Amino acid sequence: MTLSRRHLLQSFGLATLAAACTRKAAGVAVADGGSAAPATFAPTIAIPDDDGPPPLVCEPTADNLEGPFWKRGAPFRAQLADASTRGMLMAIGGQVFGHDCRPLAGATLDVWHADAAGDYDNTGWKLRGQLTSGDDGRWHVDSIVPGRYLNGARYRPRHVHVKLTAPGHRELTTQLYFPGDPYNDGDPWFVSSLVLAQVGPNRDTPGFWGRFDFVLEAA
Ligand SMILES: [Fe+2]
Repeated sequence: MTLSRRHLLQSFGLATLAAACTRKAAGVAVADGGSAAPATFAPTIAIPDDDGPPPLVCEPTADNLEGPFWKRGAPFRAQLADASTRGMLMAIGGQVFGHDCRPLAGATLDVWHADAAGDYDNTGWKLRGQLTSGDDGRWHVDSIVPGRYLNGARYRPRHVHVKLTAPGHRELTTQLYFPGDPYNDGDPWFVSSLVLAQVGPNRDTPGFWGRFDFVLEAA
C-alpha cells in the first residue's frame, strides 16, 4: 500500500529493529498463547506523532472473508481483554486513511478475534469491541494474540477480524495476519498485504505489537 512498509519503518525509526522483529515473529507464530500467563495491560504501543506528509498515491486495503462469527453491536472499547484473559499480550494500531489518502477521523473499527485456544465468544462480547479513529485517523487496540483454529483438517493462521465503516466510504471487512505464521502460506484467505508490521516488543518480552494502516475506498 501507499504507506509502504519502508515508509512505516522510517516513520517509526524502526529499521534497526527489523532483524529483531523477524526473530520475534517466529516466536510469536509458534507459541501457544493458551499456555501463557494471564495478560496484564498497560499502554503498549507508541504511535509516532509525525508520519510525514500524506502519501501521494494510495491503494485501498484488501477485503477479506468476514467469517461466521461477527456480531453486530459490540461494546465501544479499545481494550478487548482484561487481566483474567489467558494469552500473550497483543497491541495493534495504526491509522485509517480515506479515499483521498489523508488521515480519516471518525471511522468506526469493529474488531473481533478468537481467544488463545482458537475459540470465539459467540454468547458474550469477549475479545470484541468497536472503536473510533482519532483526529489523525489513529486507532489502537489492546488484547491478546489470537489462537489458531481448525478449518477442516487444517489450522487457519492467527488473524484479527476488522470491519470498518466511515461516512462517504465503502464498508471494508477484512482480516489482519501475523508475520511469520507458518499457517499463512496455503491458507485459502491469507493475503500478504494484510500482514501486520511487527513493531515490538523486544525479544525478551512475550507478546506482539503490530501496526497496520487502512485505506478506505469512496462509497
Ligand atoms: Fe476467524
